[in-house]
Amino acid sequence: MNKTPIAKLIPFVFLFFLFSCSVGKRDKIDQEIESLLTKMTLEEKVGQMAQITLDVIGKGDSRYNSYEPFSVDTAMLRKAILEYHVGSVLNTTNNYALPPAQWNEIIGFIQQVAMEESRLRIPVVYGIDAIHGVTYTEGATIFPQQITLAATFDPVHAYNMARVTAYETRASGIPWNFSPVLDLGSDPRFSRQFEGFGEDPYLIGVMGEQMILGYEGITDSVNSPYKVATCVKHFLGYAVPASGKDRTPAYIPENMLREYHLEPFKKAIDAGAESVMINSGIINGISVHANHKIITELLKEELKFEGVVVSDWMDIINLHTRDKIAVDNKEAIKLAINAGIDMSMIPYEFERFCQNLVALVKEGEVKESRVDDAVRRILKMKMKLGLWENPVTRIDDYPEFASEKSAREAYQAAAEAITLLKNENNMLPLSKSTKILVTGPNANSMRVLNGGWTYSWQGEKTDHYAQQYNTILEAIQHKVGAVNVKYVPGVSYVEGGHYYEDKEDRFGEAIRQAKNVDVVVLCLGENSYTEKPGDLNDLTLSHNQLNLAKELAKTGKPVVMVLSEGRPRCISAIEPLMAGIVLTYLPGNYGGDALADILFGDVNPSGKLPYTYPSYPNSLVTYYHKPAEEQKRAEGAYIYESDYNPQYEFGFGLNYTSFEYSNLRISSETIDKNKPVEIFVDIMNTGSRSGKEVVMLYTSDLYASITPDVKRLRRFTKIELEPGEKKTVKFELNARDLAFITPDGKWVTEPGDFEIKTGSLKQTIKYE
Ligand code: BGC
Repeated sequence: MNKTPIAKLIPFVFLFFLFSCSVGKRDKIDQEIESLLTKMTLEEKVGQMAQITLDVIGKGDSRYNSYEPFSVDTAMLRKAILEYHVGSVLNTTNNYALPPAQWNEIIGFIQQVAMEESRLRIPVVYGIDAIHGVTYTEGATIFPQQITLAATFDPVHAYNMARVTAYETRASGIPWNFSPVLDLGSDPRFSRQFEGFGEDPYLIGVMGEQMILGYEGITDSVNSPYKVATCVKHFLGYAVPASGKDRTPAYIPENMLREYHLEPFKKAIDAGAESVMINSGIINGISVHANHKIITELLKEELKFEGVVVSDWMDIINLHTRDKIAVDNKEAIKLAINAGIDMSMIPYEFERFCQNLVALVKEGEVKESRVDDAVRRILKMKMKLGLWENPVTRIDDYPEFASEKSAREAYQAAAEAITLLKNENNMLPLSKSTKILVTGPNANSMRVLNGGWTYSWQGEKTDHYAQQYNTILEAIQHKVGAVNVKYVPGVSYVEGGHYYEDKEDRFGEAIRQAKNVDVVVLCLGENSYTEKPGDLNDLTLSHNQLNLAKELAKTGKPVVMVLSEGRPRCISAIEPLMAGIVLTYLPGNYGGDALADILFGDVNPSGKLPYTYPSYPNSLVTYYHKPAEEQKRAEGAYIYESDYNPQYEFGFGLNYTSFEYSNLRISSETIDKNKPVEIFVDIMNTGSRSGKEVVMLYTSDLYASITPDVKRLRRFTKIELEPGEKKTVKFELNARDLAFITPDGKWVTEPGDFEIKTGSLKQTIKYE
């Protein structure tokens, strides 16, 4: 008998076995939940839906601040868990980072009360914002922020960051992470643009999916002690308020909401994301926390999301206090829970939330079946996380916490992201014997390299916690020796002031010193911030910083401007004066080292812009704009400023070598509904250094029933080439990749011609 067919079947039998096991496990979880649910009182169920912040159960004079050092207020903890059955705790205390062992102790204590003293012994699920490494754990590996990872255009860095962060979050005893941010970062004014993957829906989706896999596991699952449950946020349309300011109204037509905002969330949900956090804002006049269409119809029914829907901070209360759509707190709770919220990040007055929700159910204003649905989802996440068996994980079991390997991965991500925007006469890389003046408010600070959500919410404590890492100045000094490096701040941020306040600081001396060196490295940008405190009135770089750049340029010495910033601040007034420009974004604790390696040529830069860098605050058009947004002035016609003319385009970034694209070919002249086309292009390194290139594939719908975008990114890949080396890159494209959403919300690929573009090459393909 021929054995081959059976041998071939073995992997399938094995897969079927795994599949049956996981189905069996899921059924078992469902049965256990149903049995638990029948034992629960209404009060116990409602308690599961309540989430409080750590300070509420910390010793202190008020609910809002705890004494330092932190210790649990046992009476308050018992009240929350035993009397009100609170099911979840979040956040850190007094906005500080704690050592992992202290986290273990706090969470261990909470779980002890929940699991040894409560009637049903249901564990608490602890949640945290560990958004680029474990924000609130001392000594954790801090990676670049998401916007920086996006600039690598290599999803492996998103995966690595999430994998390491999951491990170190669990080492801190925490199983649930409010990350990743999958908001469409199309408005550079928004204070949280740095928390996401930039302006392109496809790039966000690809990176986001890798973060889910890194957090939750590819082969294992969230009950592994090295994985965490993710929370994708902020569903939906959070990052584009009309004013550009956080938590102010947005106006988004349905087709745009679906085509540009929804896709990355859909991908993350398909990849298994365990929870979703709701947008704090208001879309088309409706607070999203009260929007049944978005939370229940779209997320839970259409996308078939089975996980937990958690509110954002105080956002149920906000329906009453801020948005005025509920006359009191009770009505706010009714609106939000009926819209589909499962857990309320209250986060302070849990008594009021629990009492009101119990009353609403008794009065028939909220159905008990809605509460059951919410509790089922919450208990399921807790069971999947293995909290009954392993309620708190401990640092001693995590030998790889803050390992060398993780540090290398964080460094590598920064090194592949930093983007070279200008290099006049190839003045970079610099020779290691160059005499340098390092100046500017961002030259000697770890805070500016990390941004918000680093050791504290606003990141203002970073210089205290991150002393062992190198600022830009220190990294340059280590690289070339301190003798050739002078440092004068010129401009400094105001200590204790608002993040955007800066002042002259030995300004004249900086200009004088510039005359004695070969090159000036001018470090500008922003100080750290996030959310409302990061709102901004003017996207232009600050007056003092522009002035420093202008005066330094007047010395005639070449100036290399290094920008470390959470969003692209306008620099058009000084850009022509700079010999070189390097954008670090927010590269994290190893960003200074990565930058120094790039400035002196030990690393060849390969980062590309994940957003459009605008020239002016009134021209904030993304790369996927409409043809009408590119109206050029005809010869002799009136002058008007309607040109699409950004400072730098999405996807732009220079390299110390050069690449030539040739021989674009497509497997077929037409694209079929059911068969993908294959696209090939040859890329050659024509320079003298090895380097990495991001190969991007764009398409343009030439004519459509809705005015089409000028182009859209459909695929990308990052390759490495030695000097003289040539590689062929292959992409596959489906008819669905050419589709757009009609005003009534349907995906359609319309027959007609489409242009396929990569580098400066293009070809037309037909869809019939
Ligand atoms: C933010 C969320 C965050 C939550 C908990 C909110 O203010 O909008 O992104 O997860 O706080 O810290």
